[in-house]
Amino acid sequence: MTNKASVDELIQLIVREPSAGSTCSSSLAQGPWEFDTATPNYGPGASSEDVIPASSPIQGVLPDEYKTASVEELHERIVAAKQTLGDSVIILGHFYQRDEIVVHADYLGDSFQLAKAAQAHPDAKAIVFCGVHFMAETADILSTPEQVVILPNLAAGCSMADMADIDSVNECWEQLEEIYGTEVDESGRVPIIPVTYMNSSAALKSFCGEHGGIVCTSSNAETVLKWAFERGQRVLFFPDQHLGRNTAKAMGIPLENMPMWQGRKPLGGNDEQTLKDAQVILWNGFCSVHKRFNVAQIEKARIDFPGVRVIVHPECPMPVVDAADEYGSTDYIRKAIAAATEPTTFAIGTEVNMVQRLAAQYPQHTIFCLDPVVCPCSTMYRIHPGYLAWVLESLIAGNVVNQISVDEQVAQNARVALERMLAAKPL
Ligand code: 13P
Ligand code: SF4
Repeated sequence: MTNKASVDELIQLIVREPSAGSTCSSSLAQGPWEFDTATPNYGPGASSEDVIPASSPIQGVLPDEYKTASVEELHERIVAAKQTLGDSVIILGHFYQRDEIVVHADYLGDSFQLAKAAQAHPDAKAIVFCGVHFMAETADILSTPEQVVILPNLAAGCSMADMADIDSVNECWEQLEEIYGTEVDESGRVPIIPVTYMNSSAALKSFCGEHGGIVCTSSNAETVLKWAFERGQRVLFFPDQHLGRNTAKAMGIPLENMPMWQGRKPLGGNDEQTLKDAQVILWNGFCSVHKRFNVAQIEKARIDFPGVRVIVHPECPMPVVDAADEYGSTDYIRKAIAAATEPTTFAIGTEVNMVQRLAAQYPQHTIFCLDPVVCPCSTMYRIHPGYLAWVLESLIAGNVVNQISVDEQVAQNARVALERMLAAKPL
């Protein structure tokens, strides 16, 4: 992979190449709508092997004019629509979005920064979230009741977020309560605190708010876990086992005190004593994009590029994080590269759209993705400029399409858990 090629160019070279149990294909780059209106599925990409919940939202049919317009025409239409809408709309974009979207974003960031940006603009009538479903839900929870939040493509979910649902978490909680009881210890700490990764449904954030818990992102997971241990003897962490394990390990928690909970199995597949000894109980969710990274890729990078700096996202499995030089959120990765003063070779373990953009932005460095097969997050990639042009032009015509609206009862407790996160300070 060279520094120069755009992700679209690279993906277009790939013809349904099976790799690591998933299928990457150029088709998602050009016409995600072909996959959006069919039976719900994640489509080709890293998540293609994952099971999508039956209740997942289905994107309606995108009018033909947006499917047939050239990328240049769509660009002009988005620019014109933004000009007409002025300050009444803000566009938020996650780092994993494709370049044709990023160029229109008023704010580009990681999930923590974008949650704060959503909260910081109460005067905008509409927030158009170029990211995935849980991010738009969070923006809706944190914005004012008068504001509308729009997800340009409803099929942009997150397969990891879908790996924990409220019924399974409730079942788990009931079993844990039976084992732990409700007694506080000598420091006044309750037996267990639920912590949900931002990559989860509003219902799970609400569960955390209601049960004394909190939300975390990959940029503040350690601060949040410390917050939780000040108030609880143990943590139930969902849905991402890897972020939970990597963070708890860095805090010195032994692996044997981090059992995994497998939904629907009695006691999550554990015995009672293991759960009693547990400090962090990890849900068995994962990100299919970050699961693709492995230690062999890092070893190869070190042979091919002596002195390479390997930085990975904490959604990668623990052996990968251990073999890397550093790990951190998407914004951590961006800042680490921006701060490098000498020409450096970086091997990055995160989503390829972001890696390729950094490679283009910092030509003084050699920057490449550890995964040799270009396989983007298939749901982030759903936000094609055709969808962005459609939602903006619909707003001009007075129609709000693809609104994400969280039920107020759910939102109330979810807001509590999110506000706890926003207020949590490093110790
Ligand atoms: P960040 O919070 O680092 O942006 O990560 C979000 C995400 O979905 C990574 O897969
Ligand atoms: Fe979800 Fe993984 Fe995509 Fe992030 S990269 S949105 S965790 S599927």
